[in-house]
Amino acid sequence: MPRADLVVYNIGELVTFRGGPTPRPSPETAGILRNAAVAFRGGRIIEVGPTGWIRARYSAPEWVDAGSRLATPGLVDMHTHALFAGSREDEFEAKLMGASYSEILARGGGIYRTIEATRRSSRRELLRLLLERLYRMLEGGTTVVEVKTGYALEPRLEVEHLSIIREAGGLTPQLVVPTLLAHVPPREGDRGAYIESFKAAIREAARRRLAVYFDVFCDRGAFTPEESKALLLEAHRAGLRLRMHADQLEYMGCSLVAAEAGVDSVDHLEVMPPENATALAKARVVAGLLPTSILAMMQAERPPVDSLRRAGVPIAVGSDYNPNNMTPLAQTAMQVAPYILKLTPMEALAAVTVNAAASLGLEGVSGRVAPGFRGDLVVWDAEDYRWLTYEWGWNKALYVIAAGRVVVSESRLIVKPVLM
Ligand code: NIG
Ligand code: FE
Repeated sequence: MPRADLVVYNIGELVTFRGGPTPRPSPETAGILRNAAVAFRGGRIIEVGPTGWIRARYSAPEWVDAGSRLATPGLVDMHTHALFAGSREDEFEAKLMGASYSEILARGGGIYRTIEATRRSSRRELLRLLLERLYRMLEGGTTVVEVKTGYALEPRLEVEHLSIIREAGGLTPQLVVPTLLAHVPPREGDRGAYIESFKAAIREAARRRLAVYFDVFCDRGAFTPEESKALLLEAHRAGLRLRMHADQLEYMGCSLVAAEAGVDSVDHLEVMPPENATALAKARVVAGLLPTSILAMMQAERPPVDSLRRAGVPIAVGSDYNPNNMTPLAQTAMQVAPYILKLTPMEALAAVTVNAAASLGLEGVSGRVAPGFRGDLVVWDAEDYRWLTYEWGWNKALYVIAAGRVVVSESRLIVKPVLM
């Protein structure tokens, strides 16, 4: 009898996404199995099949009864700024009294505020904060998470922050994907010189294998399309994979730079002209949409979801967790995606699993429930995929399996209602 480390069985509805990333997720093509089971060994999924079959076939020390509920791949958060110190609740209040994000940034608040707080923190404190946040994400079903730098400003310190992200990655069962982010230029001084020293940081990050991705915030108040191009080119030459923040605040052509540069993911796109979707499709770029960021920005614009769909651009969704948008869960981003972006329930689920994995270059590693993939799975307090977004506002992850281990078990509520 073959041996497994863990079997999850009696899954009422298992969404596997075994067909891979797609611009048109639908219930017909999502690879839904009924009454299914998943066997794990050595941190990976080794088999997926009918409960009866898997139960008869495997011996395993640990069995989880999913109680006929819904299970999906572990969530992949494809866009976070989780390495930061300090907070900005006063700016939150100021925004509600009429101040804009750009005004706050221009007067040295916003990202610059967080840079100050982050630079004042010790390495140990930053590591502690990041780990706490990663574990909170795990509770919400996030088993793969991209984490960006971007609050060091000084390029050499950005590289050191990458090493904190790497260290945290070794201390959690999640797969952590480190990204070097060129976030904002210094408020004073020579921009050209700053770009040159950032290029040196890119080379250093690649040489020390600290970053997988390079990202640049191309927008008003951040980097111009020309500066972004120069940095992306340097990162490409150094062997880093590319992603981008584009067309969030003001349209300056940044999404076209993303298409030209052949990035894996171009994120935000709230003000992207709809016609740019064809260029993204041609360049096989994933669109990373960030619905909770739209809320936190109190922004009226929406990314052109219909045009992205029609052009065949796969849509991913991320939390964009940062001090301006204090939403650590990809689950929350998924929950609000239908309401803010008009994604269907299946599009929203694909956006935080299979398509999010593709946006991180992990299409063969995570985002699906299939043999050989990372041993990540979430059993939800729901029986149908539509209930993940139809009813929302609370954490529905009942069991979380990360790298083949049960890390969250039915444990939160210890008082159950009693029916008389
Ligand atoms: O993705 N747009 C730029 N960066 C972040 C915000 C970071 C911050 O405000 O600290 C974002 O929304
Ligand atoms: Fe961001």
